[in-house]
Amino acid sequence: MADYLDNIGSGKILVSKEPLSFDWTPPELIGRDTQLRDLASMFAGIGNHNVSCRAVITGNVGSGKTVLAQRFGIDIASKLEGRRKIERAHVNCRNHPSASQVLQQIALSLDSRHPERGFSSGEVIQTIRRNLLAHGSHLLLVLDEVDVLVRRDSADLIYKLLRVDEGQEEQGSISLILVSQEPTLFSLFEHAISSRLGSGNSLVLESYAEEELSQIARQRYEESCRPGSVGEEVLEKIGRLAEDSRGDARMAIELLEVSIRRAEKAGRDEVLLDDVDAGKLISASIEPNQVYELGKHQKLVLMGICRRLKKSEEVSSGDARKLYELVCEEHSEKARGYTTFWKHLKYLESEGLVKSRASSSNQGRGRTQYISMPNSAPAEIESRIERDLLSG
Ligand SMILES: Nc1ncnc2c1ncn2[C@@H]1O[C@H](COP(=O)(O)OP(=O)(O)OP(=O)(O)O)[C@@H](O)[C@H]1O
Ligand SMILES: [Mg+2]
Repeated sequence: MADYLDNIGSGKILVSKEPLSFDWTPPELIGRDTQLRDLASMFAGIGNHNVSCRAVITGNVGSGKTVLAQRFGIDIASKLEGRRKIERAHVNCRNHPSASQVLQQIALSLDSRHPERGFSSGEVIQTIRRNLLAHGSHLLLVLDEVDVLVRRDSADLIYKLLRVDEGQEEQGSISLILVSQEPTLFSLFEHAISSRLGSGNSLVLESYAEEELSQIARQRYEESCRPGSVGEEVLEKIGRLAEDSRGDARMAIELLEVSIRRAEKAGRDEVLLDDVDAGKLISASIEPNQVYELGKHQKLVLMGICRRLKKSEEVSSGDARKLYELVCEEHSEKARGYTTFWKHLKYLESEGLVKSRASSSNQGRGRTQYISMPNSAPAEIESRIERDLLSG
């Protein structure tokens, strides 16, 4: 009875799933010693009260920007224990793209009073500052994907944060790390900001090469699987395939996870070379170019579809149309007529970006289709399009 369930969670290979999550922060980073040291030198003096520091980290998708900022924050806070009290806040501006949302997140992580409505961001920052001083704390603030904040709102918050102690007796309340995929992040800022950030405080992360990607996969394997369940050649193959897809560390982790799942499903206690298959990867199968080369309204149609498919398997063409209209509104674009919409949909299908099937019960007029994305991760595609539209 229910034999088919036997292999699920049998633990033949996997002991703990957590290290396979992208959000897991490894105790040690692979191949980033130099970069951590660079960061540390930008933060020289952080042990002293009255000192605040800043750094800007840029690099391609999956080059480890977020995890580097996190690892550094954790390490420095523990290193300074007993000398200086470091509070950490890490805000992803893609999820919180306005100054007031970012401030809200900072307040939440400080567990202090929430910024009250009706106050300007300058006032809220000063409240946060006073709270920090009152507790003898220093805030290490990471603004991740900061380009989204600057484009959607402005750089005003960053400017204010950089000048938070100006004209005050006590200095050194907030250190700032800005993180972005954009190599030209500095060009988004006016001189007053870039000079305060300091051009020497910029750290560019190169994408990972094969060997490092193998090591990243190895680290996750060792933390999550039974010893001996994933062999050397398997890790090497993962490194090779991940390097082929832009050196994205996420790809290495995902390849590992998918191959473990395949092996366990087959009832084995070891991952074989054949289990590692890039074709099985959701986010790998669509090349970024395929998305970037679409026309604007094709992108907007696809974006609407992605939004729904993050939560469900399929979306009806009628709903896709409504979502498209909504997305157009958000991007101040006039939605095209139904025929054009339909043409875009068919084009997306011909490009292999979506799949559609006719409804089995085609009641009433018109042609209802159900759209799905079997070959890709809607969330990833959505954020690619969003990035692309924002960069103009
Ligand atoms: N040097 C490393 N050692 C171990 N794990 C790493 C390393 N670099 C990245 N990872 C892991 O790879 C995944 C992706 O890294 P991260 O999220 O830091 O990339 P990112 O550069 O911030 O990507 P994005 O531009 O999409 O935000 C994370 O799960 C992270 O823990
Ligand atoms: Mg990141």
